[in-house]
Order: sequence, then C-alpha cells, then structure tokens
Amino acid sequence: MQILDGKALSDKIKIELKQESILLNEKGIFPALAVILVGDDPASQTYVNTKEKACGVAGIKSIMHKMPSSTTQKELLDIITSLNLDSSVDGILVQLPLPKHIDTNAVIEAIDPKKDVDGFHPFNVGRLMAGLDGFVPCTPFGVMRLLEEYKINVRGLDACVIGASNIVGKPMMNLLLNASATVEICRSSTKNLCEHTKRADLIVVGVGKINLLTADMVKEGAIVIDVGINRNAEGKIVGDVDFAGVAPKCSFITPVPGGVGPMTIAMLLENTIKSAKNR
Ligand code: GUN
Repeated sequence: MQILDGKALSDKIKIELKQESILLNEKGIFPALAVILVGDDPASQTYVNTKEKACGVAGIKSIMHKMPSSTTQKELLDIITSLNLDSSVDGILVQLPLPKHIDTNAVIEAIDPKKDVDGFHPFNVGRLMAGLDGFVPCTPFGVMRLLEEYKINVRGLDACVIGASNIVGKPMMNLLLNASATVEICRSSTKNLCEHTKRADLIVVGVGKINLLTADMVKEGAIVIDVGINRNAEGKIVGDVDFAGVAPKCSFITPVPGGVGPMTIAMLLENTIKSAKNR
C-alpha cells in the first residue's frame, strides 16, 4: 500500500508556481485572485484563509472581499461585475455555500468565464464535458494531478465516484471519462452501494459522511481517493473513508488531512496563474 501524498505534491507545485509568478512579474503581470466570502460560516472562513495564505506562497496577490450574511444578491452581483471589468484581477472565486436568499447559479453565471478559476461557470462545465481546454474545478483537477504524479494510468479502469455534486462528483466523472476510465456515479443513498464499490479498481468518495467507505466495500488492490472533510467527535479532521480498515487492502490511498485538500488549493493557484498568462 502506498500513500498518495497530496501535501508534498502541493508544496512542490506551489514552488513551481512561484517561479512562474516571478516570470510574469518581469513582464509587468502581477497575478491576482479575488476571493468573495459572504456570511460567517466557520468552515468557509477557514477555507478562505487557507486560500489567502497559499496565494502568498505562490506569489499571487489575494484580494479578499468579506461581506455580511445580509448582503443582497444585487450587491454581490455588482462586486462581481466590477471584478470582471478590473484588468488587474485574474481569478474570481465566490466561496460556497452562499446564504439561502442568494441564487448560487445566478452568481456563478455572472462571473466572466475567463476569470472562473473554480471552473463552475456553465461555459467551463461544457468545455470540460466536451474535452476542451478551460478551467477545471480544483478538487477533481487535484485528484487527477495526484494520480499522474504517482504514474497511475486510469485508462480501462473501472472507477466508482461516490457523490454527484457540481463541485466534485460530476467534474470528476468527466475527467475520468476523458482519461478513458469506465465511470459510474453513485451516491451515499445508492442501494447496495457495496456491490458497486467492490467492483471498482478506483473509488473516489466525497459526500461528507464519516466511515462511509469501509474495508468490506473495497476489493483487494483498489485505489481509494478520499475527498471528504469531516470533523469527528474528538474534533479531529477525518475523511469519508475508514482509513485504518481500508488502507491495508489498497494499492494506493489518500490520507485526510494531507491528501486531496492541499491539492485543491494548489490547483486553484495553478488556474489563477493560467488565467494571468492569458491576460
Ligand atoms: N466550497 C466547497 N468547495 C469549494 C470550492 O472548491 N470552491 C468554492 N468557491 N467554494 C467551495
């Protein structure tokens, strides 16, 4: 069994991106990411602060907009419009989830697809589905990069993705399909989930349920990617996989923390540098 070390790879990528930032600076381009956080959800606050810190390491200017939960949709859309028009801004990220009174789809569609470093705009969603270049959502992009780093070729593998969100499951499905895997999408509510996972050579799970994937659900030699981030009863960060039980059966497995999480951040920085290069 080998651990897929997302922390180590993300550190390496951040150093490479810092070099790219320096080259861009020499051309008078200073990569910048605007991050918008609406409300005071503690988990979102933590994510946004982590993103801001990582920007600093990669030589990216971070422009933070922290707005109260009472912010109206119009106020948010006005900020996005001004960031779309600001030629010194390369990426715009609106941290999700948004307060209930705001239409998330309207907000995502308001972002200029050329600055959509989250890859959530339907323009980029469509390009990914068609196998065209565009911005790829950071978490599944990070998973693919981690697999590549460890020379894992998914061509011909049976992949089971558990979770069908726009942020993780659906783009993960498209990336695996584009890489010639055979893909099925399940949910935590899939009946006889075990029958699906047991057949899979590669399992990607990201639904936010502690111990959703247990040893009896995994075949010998499987590759297991844990996208879950949960806090357990002791306050520790854990994924969706019963790591202690599942790991001995795997050929490769990601830990939580230190697996997919840091890769998500690294891909956000990479998308921002990509946008800056396109300026
Ligand atoms: N909320 C949870 N994951 C993400 C993400 O990747 N991007 C944004 N914008 N919000 C999120």
